[in-house]
This record gives sequence, C-alpha cells and structure tokens, in this order.
Amino acid sequence: MSNFKDQALLVTGASGKFGRIAVEELLARGATKIIAGTRDTSKLADLAARGVEVRHLDFDDAASLPASFAGVDRVLVISTDGVGKRVAQQTAAIAAAKAAGVKHIVYTSAPAARPNADAGLGIEHYWTEVALAESGLDFTSLRNHMYAENNLIDVGHVIGSGQLFGLIGDRGTAFVTRADAARTAAGALLTSEGKSIEDVSGPAAVTNAERAALYAKVSGKPVAVVAVTPPELKAGMVAAGLPEFYAQALVAFQIDAVFGFHGVATDAVERLSGRKPETFAHFLEANRAALTA
Ligand SMILES: NC(=O)c1ccc[n+]([C@@H]2O[C@H](COP(=O)([O-])OP(=O)(O)OC[C@H]3O[C@@H](n4cnc5c(N)ncnc54)[C@H](OP(=O)(O)O)[C@@H]3O)[C@@H](O)[C@H]2O)c1
Repeated sequence: MSNFKDQALLVTGASGKFGRIAVEELLARGATKIIAGTRDTSKLADLAARGVEVRHLDFDDAASLPASFAGVDRVLVISTDGVGKRVAQQTAAIAAAKAAGVKHIVYTSAPAARPNADAGLGIEHYWTEVALAESGLDFTSLRNHMYAENNLIDVGHVIGSGQLFGLIGDRGTAFVTRADAARTAAGALLTSEGKSIEDVSGPAAVTNAERAALYAKVSGKPVAVVAVTPPELKAGMVAAGLPEFYAQALVAFQIDAVFGFHGVATDAVERLSGRKPETFAHFLEANRAALTA
C-alpha cells in the first residue's frame, strides 16, 4: 500500500468536529506537510503551534480558492453544513483543486447518494460525486453512514417518554462514530489511489428495536418502539418543533433504512483507519451520561 504522508495534504473545514479529528489522525500517522483549511484561521491557532500550516479556505469565496489550494497534492474535502448550496460549494472546491494540480480528492459523502427526489440530503452528495468523476482526478468518495452521535440529540427525550418512534419495516442502520469516520478519511488521504466509492459504516446494522433495547439496558428504563408511517413520523417531528424541511430530510434517512441502504456494514473503517469500528453498544456505554441525564 502506498503512503503519501510526505505529500502536501489539505483538510478543508478543519475547524469542524470531523476536520479536527482528521487532522489529529494525520499528525498521529506521521504526515509531514499537513495544511488545515478553514474560514476562520483564528480557531486553529493550536494546530499552527504544532506545525500544521493553517490557511484561509472558504468554498464561497471563489477568488481566494487558488491560494487555498496552491501546492496541495491531495485534499480531503469535508462536505459543508450549507444544505441547499453544497453542490455549488463543493464543485467550486473540486474545480479549484484540479486547477491547482491536486492529484487525489477524498470526499465525505452519504449512503445511497442518488439524484432521486426521495433521496433527501443524498442528492447534493450525488451531484458532488458526479463532479468528482467528471474532474478526471483520482478520488475516494467515502459514504459515511449515520453518525452514532446523531442519536444523542434526542435520546434523553426518547428515554424520558419511553417511546422510540421509527418507521414500519425498519431494517437497521450501521451507525458509525464520527471519530471512526474521520480517522478513516485521514487514512484514505494517506493511502488511497485510483477512483472509488466506499461505504463507511459501523460493524453491524442496528434496528430500531435493538436500539430501544440498548437504550433500556444502559438507562435502566423501559423503552418501546412505536412503528409508524412516514407521514406520521414527519408530522410528529414537526409537532415537536422541527422545521418541515429538516423533518423531511430525517424521514428520508429513515425511509432509506427501510430500503436497507443503511444496513450495509463494510470493512472500510478497519482497512483505512487500522482500527475496528466502535460498536453501537459500546458507544452508548461510553455516553451513558447522556442517556441517564
Ligand atoms: N453522516 C452523518 O450522520 C452526518 C451528520 C452530520 C453532518 N454530516 C456531514 O459531515 C460534515 C462534517 O461533520 P461535522 O460533524 O464535522 O460538522 P460541523 O462540525 O458542523 O462542521 C461543518 C463543516 O463545514 C465546513 N464549512 C461550512 N461552510 C464552509 C465553506 N463555505 N467552505 C468550506 N467549508 C465550510 C466548516 O468548516 P470551517 O468552519 O472550518 O470553515 C466545518 O468543517 C458536515 O458538514 C455534514 O456535511 C454527516
């Protein structure tokens, strides 16, 4: 396996949660020319003090992109949180990378990324993958499965009410921790070659029923699954205060889990990060405080 640790490796969005872990992993794995790109360089003074080159990088600022990508060999493009404008942002980044002579792009995509109207947030990832393919550059598109951390957002409410609402027909989700996914991305930046799309998952699919049982076990409180239809689930989310667009996107993920798209479990984490992915049960134990608060 090749090792590109001595090439100039750029991580975009380096001040985000994923980006910071990826940069730490590059440091830990001995990368010698790490460039951390961010819209606000003041947030990364700690990394600069440790020898990382910190650069201004903003996909929305076209005029600044040539300088941001100058001299870079390989780049990890972290998908932004700018839902609705991500295709423009990320294709601008890909074009700038190509113009600067970058040889390989690693991108953080999503499972079952596709152009279909029912694909929710996956549509933007699909068109970014198309831009990657059309660039002619080598690329690794990492289809990161649902972060295990997403569950911490509402786990307190689920345990408090004793009810976990999910779709009829759920076939499970192979939750991956953000840290495992970020270390995998760093591994791809260090070693991947050619053109590929990889599903990056946890070790096994976890159904809603299994998730409820784990919540009950860790919290010591009963949790039952309430299986509903997509319109019922969306209506419940909106009634709970979620914006309609956001509720629709979350339901789209759950419909994909009914299709089985989120049940895929691969060896990508272990192969690219060198560590076995954390199980969902272990993740919940490690976050016991959030479940029992
Ligand atoms: N698989 C999942 O379950 C899941 C869940 C949530 C999010 N995601 C995706 O994974 C990404 C990373 O997750 P995270 O947890 O690290 O999110 P996060 O902490 O919210 O980070 C958001 C990232 O977007 C970057 N960004 C925003 N606007 C940008 C711009 N104009 N140009 C360049 N970068 C820009 C930020 O970079 P700077 O602030 O450093 O410029 C930051 O790194 C998210 O942005 C999202 O696309 C996946």
